[in-house]
Amino acid sequence: LAPKDLLGKRIVITAGGTREPLDPVRFIGNRSSGKQGVALALAASARGADVTLIGANLEVHAPDAVHVEHVSTTLELRDAVAGAAASADIVIMAAAVADYRPEAVAEGKIKKETQGDTLQLTLVKNPDILHGLAEARQPGQVLVGFAAETESDRDALLALGRAKILRKGADVLVLNTVGWTEGFATDGNTVVVINAAGDIVGEAAGTKASVANSILDTLV
Ligand code: C5P
Repeated sequence: LAPKDLLGKRIVITAGGTREPLDPVRFIGNRSSGKQGVALALAASARGADVTLIGANLEVHAPDAVHVEHVSTTLELRDAVAGAAASADIVIMAAAVADYRPEAVAEGKIKKETQGDTLQLTLVKNPDILHGLAEARQPGQVLVGFAAETESDRDALLALGRAKILRKGADVLVLNTVGWTEGFATDGNTVVVINAAGDIVGEAAGTKASVANSILDTLV
């Protein structure tokens, strides 16, 4: 039986990957499946937390035990997080959020017949949701970010993470390496967890369920 060490804690967890539409039938997206975020939601709920899962295009079933809100774009995710985070003790931003979105969404399908041999897209920067949460931080709230990087060298990964946690203003950052065959959409994960001082406060490798529990151990 899971320890009830998160009893009474309100936790908001984002999972999946945001999609930015180009036209009614196409989007720019990423390969995040939502597995790690959903595993965190399940584990936190089993440990007694009151969990709100905000899922962006989840490829896995959202657990019945938690409140689920489904979103697709980064702006929808931002609005859902803003609503839920106001009363949260912990916010875990496990979702892979698109850094840019198309400046304009075409009303009809973009057609190659009228585009010719090249198609140029203009993208505009999305708001940084985690950074926004940190700027409007509720007293005592713990903000957790994820950083999925393609660097597989541990020192390079840690250096990127230390710069990122300061830039974002988060309390805890979960670092993992992703690539063509790693991290996204797989059943296992390997993570290093750091705090705002840049110290390593947790490490885990295994199934996404066991990694989820290790991350929660660190937060507890
Ligand atoms: O900068 P990077 O995308 O690597 O940061 C990753 C962390 O920041 C994740 O926790 C992600 O959910 C969050 N993020 C965000 N808003 C963005 C981009 C990333 O909250 N626009």
